[in-house]
Amino acid sequence: MSIVFDEKSRFFSLMTENTEYQIRINELGMVLHTYYGKRVGGFDMSYLLKELDRGFSGNPYECRNKRGISADTLPQEYSTDGAGDYRVSALSLCLSNGSGTADLRYKSHEIISGRDELKGLPYVRAEKDKVDTLKIYLEDKVAGLLVVLAYQVFEEKDIISRYSVIKNESDGDIFLNKAASACVDFMGKDLDLIHFHGRHAFERQPERRRVTHDICRIGSKRGTSSHHNNPFVILCDRNTDEWNGDSFGVMLMYSGEHAQEIEKDQAGTIRVVSGISDDHFRWKLSKGEEFTTPEVMLAFTDKGLSELSFLFHRIIRENICPGQFRDIKRPVLMNNWEGTYFDFDDDKIMEIADSAKEAGCEMLVLDDGWFGARNDDHAGLGDWVVNRNKIKKGMDKIADHVESLGMKFGLWFEPEMVNEDSDLYRAHPDWALTDPDRKPVMARDQLVLDMSRSEVVDYLYESISGILNSAKISYVKWDFNRSLSNVFSRALPADRQGEVAHRFVLGTYSLMERLRERFPDVMIEGCSGGGGRFDAGIMFYSPQIWCSDNTEAINRLKIQKGTSYGYPISTIGSHVSASPNHQTGREVPLMTRAIVAMAGTFGYELDPRLLSSQEKAMIRDQIKTFNKYYDLIQKGRYLRLSDEQDEQYYTSWGFVSEDRSEALVSLVVTDVRANPEVMYVRLRRLDPDAMYEVDNCISSNAQVPENGVYSQKTEGEIYSGAALMNAGYAFDPMFGSYPAIQLHFRRIY
Ligand code: DGJ
Repeated sequence: MSIVFDEKSRFFSLMTENTEYQIRINELGMVLHTYYGKRVGGFDMSYLLKELDRGFSGNPYECRNKRGISADTLPQEYSTDGAGDYRVSALSLCLSNGSGTADLRYKSHEIISGRDELKGLPYVRAEKDKVDTLKIYLEDKVAGLLVVLAYQVFEEKDIISRYSVIKNESDGDIFLNKAASACVDFMGKDLDLIHFHGRHAFERQPERRRVTHDICRIGSKRGTSSHHNNPFVILCDRNTDEWNGDSFGVMLMYSGEHAQEIEKDQAGTIRVVSGISDDHFRWKLSKGEEFTTPEVMLAFTDKGLSELSFLFHRIIRENICPGQFRDIKRPVLMNNWEGTYFDFDDDKIMEIADSAKEAGCEMLVLDDGWFGARNDDHAGLGDWVVNRNKIKKGMDKIADHVESLGMKFGLWFEPEMVNEDSDLYRAHPDWALTDPDRKPVMARDQLVLDMSRSEVVDYLYESISGILNSAKISYVKWDFNRSLSNVFSRALPADRQGEVAHRFVLGTYSLMERLRERFPDVMIEGCSGGGGRFDAGIMFYSPQIWCSDNTEAINRLKIQKGTSYGYPISTIGSHVSASPNHQTGREVPLMTRAIVAMAGTFGYELDPRLLSSQEKAMIRDQIKTFNKYYDLIQKGRYLRLSDEQDEQYYTSWGFVSEDRSEALVSLVVTDVRANPEVMYVRLRRLDPDAMYEVDNCISSNAQVPENGVYSQKTEGEIYSGAALMNAGYAFDPMFGSYPAIQLHFRRIY
C-alpha cells in the first residue's frame, strides 16, 4: 500500500517510487500539510511545523490561550475563508444565513485500493497501474458541510492526483463562491514560478520569476483554458535547470476558466491553490447536493525540469489520453485548410486527396466550410448538414474516394458554436449564450452555444452522429474559435447563472464522452484556434491537439518547446505548411519545416497539387523517416537540448528511447552567422558505456549555397555515449536560410 496512516501521531504518508507527501491531523482536527518532496521513508515530518505566535494571526477558539495554533500560519490541505486563514483560500462560500465562514475539521478517512472514476469530468485513469486512494472527510458541523479530499497515488508514475467533493448537509442552500481542487503549502523554500503565457498563434511561452510576497494569479476567464495562460505551473528551486534541481508541477485537468494562485505568506511559506477560477463561479448547492471539483495532478522530482516534463508526459500518454490511440500508429495527415481555406468543392478535395496520396500522406482532413451555408466565416456554424452546392456528390463519395486511395478520411467540426446566419440560430436563438436585452460581444462573427442545456448537447450529438454515420470518417477535428462572453443561460434562474461557465465545460465533456462511446474508433483532434484549449482535461477525450494556428517553423520552435514542459509530443499537433508562411511571411526550407513538425504528431497543411514532383518525393521521404522513428518520437524521452543562450543561435532537441538504444537529435539554426561557432550539443540519457553510430542523417543541405559547409560526413560516425553526453556532438556550422539537421544514433555495442 502506498498510503500509510500512523494512528499514534495521526499522520498520513503518501508514497510514490521517488516522492512522498505527508498530511497531519492536529489535536483540533485541522488537516495540515507537512511535506511534499523526495521520499523520506515514512519518517514523520510534522517536526517541520512550528507553532509560533504571530501577531494578528488569530487562533481557533479552543486555542485562544495557545497562540501558536493559527489557521493563518500553519500549512493547510484545504484552506477556507472566514476562519482565520488570510491567505488565498481553496473554499469560499455563503451559507443560507449569509455567513461566509467555513471551518473544516477532520471527521474520518478511508484508504482504498484503486480509485473512483469521476462522473462527467476527466481524471487520471488507473489503467494497469497500481493506484491507491486516500479520502479524508472533513466537516463543519455548524455549516452542515462535508468536504472530501481525495488523493490518488500513482506509485510507479510518481504522480499524486487530487480533487475535492463539497456536500451540503444543511437544511438550507449553500452558495459556493470558490471551490478549488487543491491547496499545497511549501514551507521553507525560496522558489521560482514558471508559467506558460501566450496569445493566439503564440501559445505557451515559459516565463520564470521568483515567488515574492504578492499574490500571483495565473488564470483564464475566457470560458476555456485559453491561449493566454495554461493551467500548468512549475515551482522550482532558484537554481533548478533542465537536468538538476527540485521542481514541483501542478497541472489542472480542466478546459474551462481556471486559476493558479501562488502566494508567499508572512513567514515565507509558499501556497499554491489550483482549480476552477472564481471569477464567474457561484454554484448553488441545495440540501443534499454535492459538487465535485476537477482533478489536479502533482509531481515532484529532484532531477530538474526535463524529468518533471517526463513525469507529466508519461502519465498523460498512458493514463489520460484515450487508451485505444495510445499504441496505434496514427496517420500522417494532409489538411486542406491553409491549402484552400473556404474555396473548395468536392472535385478539388478529391484532387487534393490524389496529390496527398502521391506525396505519401495517410489521411486527408477536410477542414472548415463543408456544411450549411458556410462559404466564409460569417455563416453556417451550427448547421451540421453537408453543403450540397460544394459537396455535390456527397460526403460519402469523398470518403470512399479517399479510402480507395488507401488513406483515412477526417472532418472538421466546431460543435459549440453558432452563427447568427444559420438555420439553428434562426430556430433557437435562445440556445446561444447571450444576455437578455443586450447585444452580445461578437468574435469571428459567431456566438457560443449554451452547452449547459441538455437539448443543445442532444442536438449536437444527433447531428454530428448523423454525419459520422453517413461516411467513412476516422477522425474529427474539434475546433473552438472564440472566447466566451455574455455567459448567461436562458434556461437557468438568476441564482444559478454563476454555474453556467462550469456547466458549459461539463456539457462539452459529456458531448465528447457520448460521441466517443458511439464512435470509439474515431479519433478526436482537439483545437481552439490552434492551442486555445490545450490542456490535460481535453486530452482525456482527445489524444492530440492542434498546437497553434501559427504553422511557421521558426515560431513553432518556441511554441512547441513551451508546450513540451507539460505535454507529451504525442499530443502536439504539428504540420508542414507552405512557404512563404501564411502567418509570418517567412520562407523556411521544406526540410526544416518537416524536421520541426516531426516534434509533434506530424502532417501537412498546404495544397499538395502545387507541389513539384521533387517536393513530393522529398515529402514521401520525410514521411518514411517520421514513420521509421514513430515510436521513438511518440514514446521516447523528449529532451530540450538547447538553452536560452544557445537559442540566440540555434535550437536543438532530441528523443532517447527508454532502453537507451537509440536517439534522434534535431537542430535548427535560427540565426545563421558568418565565420560561426561550432555547435556543441550535449546529449542526455544515453548509456555512457555504449558506442553509438550515426546511422541516418537528414538535413536541409539542398538549400545551402555551393560554398556552404556540408563537408561533414555524419552517417557512419561512431561515438561513445559518455563522449556525446559529456562533450556533446559537434555540429558543423550551417548556412543558408534556417538550415536544419536531424541525426539518428543507434547503439552498436
Ligand atoms: C482555426 C483552426 O485552428 C484552423 O486550423 C482551422 O481549422 C480554422 N479554425 C477553420 O476555421
